Amino acid sequence: MTRRVAVLISGRGSNMISLIEAASAPGFPAEIALVLSNRPDAAGLERARAAGIATAVIDHKSHPTREDFEQAMDGVLSEHGIEFICLAGFMRVLTDWFVERWAGRMINIHPSLLPLFRGVHTHRRALEEGVLVHGCTVHFVVPELDAGPIIAQAAVPVVPGDTEETLSARILVQEHLIYPQALRMICDGSARLEGGRVVFSGSWDGTGALRSPA
Ligand code: GRF
Repeated sequence: MTRRVAVLISGRGSNMISLIEAASAPGFPAEIALVLSNRPDAAGLERARAAGIATAVIDHKSHPTREDFEQAMDGVLSEHGIEFICLAGFMRVLTDWFVERWAGRMINIHPSLLPLFRGVHTHRRALEEGVLVHGCTVHFVVPELDAGPIIAQAAVPVVPGDTEETLSARILVQEHLIYPQALRMICDGSARLEGGRVVFSGSWDGTGALRSPA
């Protein structure tokens, strides 16, 4: 069964592109049916249109409250028959209402090995802390920011001379591998949220995200 997926973005949309490309492969259990941005000027919107994907803009600035903004988003998501949401550089904090409504059906990619470095500026903070291993995480979204159950992770070395730019570029390559893999797992049911934890089965082969990119 092919699931209808929306990708929510605020910016350049490189993860969105990796999801669109993965979903275009025969047999992938998801179709990217909508790209939704809260910013009219998000570069990813043009990239989505160029890939032939339906787009929508819900500008948070035109909505008086967070709830009002989310109601508008939720309306557009139902109009498009969306079943799962991928947050991909979506820079708005979501209310408990929206998160609960999409519980077990909304995932996010975060540029650190959670639970380390929740929040922003993860690469800068990793360099400041002097960690030798850094990475990225795909997780189910829960009300607490960057705290949801983990579906996939990939690690990279931090090497001498690294800057935020070099480190983020090394991690972005991994983001583009594990995000489609995590989407596949939630859409084919091989990663499910049950009792606040991820239960793996089916297509997950036990080797982990690091060695089995999609
Ligand atoms: C990525 O680093 C992602 O991990 C974070 O925001 C960035 C989005 O980049 N959540 P892009 O828009 O997908 O290129």
